[in-house]
Amino acid sequence: MTVESFEHTGQPDWDWWGRLWPAPGETLRDLGVEAGDSVAEVGCGNGYFALPAARIAAPAPVYAVDVDESLLAELETLADRQGVETLHPVRGDARSLGDVLPEPVDRVILANAFHGVDDRGRVVRAAAEALAPGGQFVVVNWAARPRAETTVLGEPRGPPTDCRLSPDETRAAVEGVAGFTERAHVSLPPYHYALRFER
Ligand SMILES: C[S@@+](CC[C@H](N)C(=O)[O-])C[C@H]1O[C@@H](n2cnc3c(N)ncnc32)[C@H](O)[C@@H]1O
Repeated sequence: MTVESFEHTGQPDWDWWGRLWPAPGETLRDLGVEAGDSVAEVGCGNGYFALPAARIAAPAPVYAVDVDESLLAELETLADRQGVETLHPVRGDARSLGDVLPEPVDRVILANAFHGVDDRGRVVRAAAEALAPGGQFVVVNWAARPRAETTVLGEPRGPPTDCRLSPDETRAAVEGVAGFTERAHVSLPPYHYALRFER
């Protein structure tokens, strides 16, 4: 299995990440996650979104997928401490998602990582293979703005300016691959947006 990390996808510190996303559960609901939806959050890090996703999606499972074992270990500890039983950490590569999940899922969420993906077609096809019929692929991206403008707690944050993707670039990378079509554009102020795709 390839376990190479995408560029510029380090896990943010929760101090400023929490300022930027004060209500991750509400964000996930805006992204269409509901009770009973099984979810794979790909590139989950230590679970800033995967943990609330598991609380919302229960009793359906949330598979939290990442290449970084240490982040998954942190996530497992947090899930145990918080008594979240439907969260399943999975070590795996977004490029071969279907191979590491035990079953197809209703939502594949790729948050704050698509900007670093080297072979976008491969990751999009892998997401398609991992989805159950009628499922959605949700991509959350930093806005394509200069990094100097996306400040949190007084410092520029997020990936370098030149690798950020506009909605049009994201759409172009996903639509038409494995039959995906855009279903919704979600604004996530102050610095993010999401696109929801269906097949
Ligand atoms: C910027 S963090 C985002 C974490 C989380 N999605 C969030 O938004 O809070 C990106 C994560 O993607 C993971 N990652 C990088 N390359 C990956 C790959 N090829 N497959 C799966 N995960 C990957 C990194 O280890 C990191 O935890």
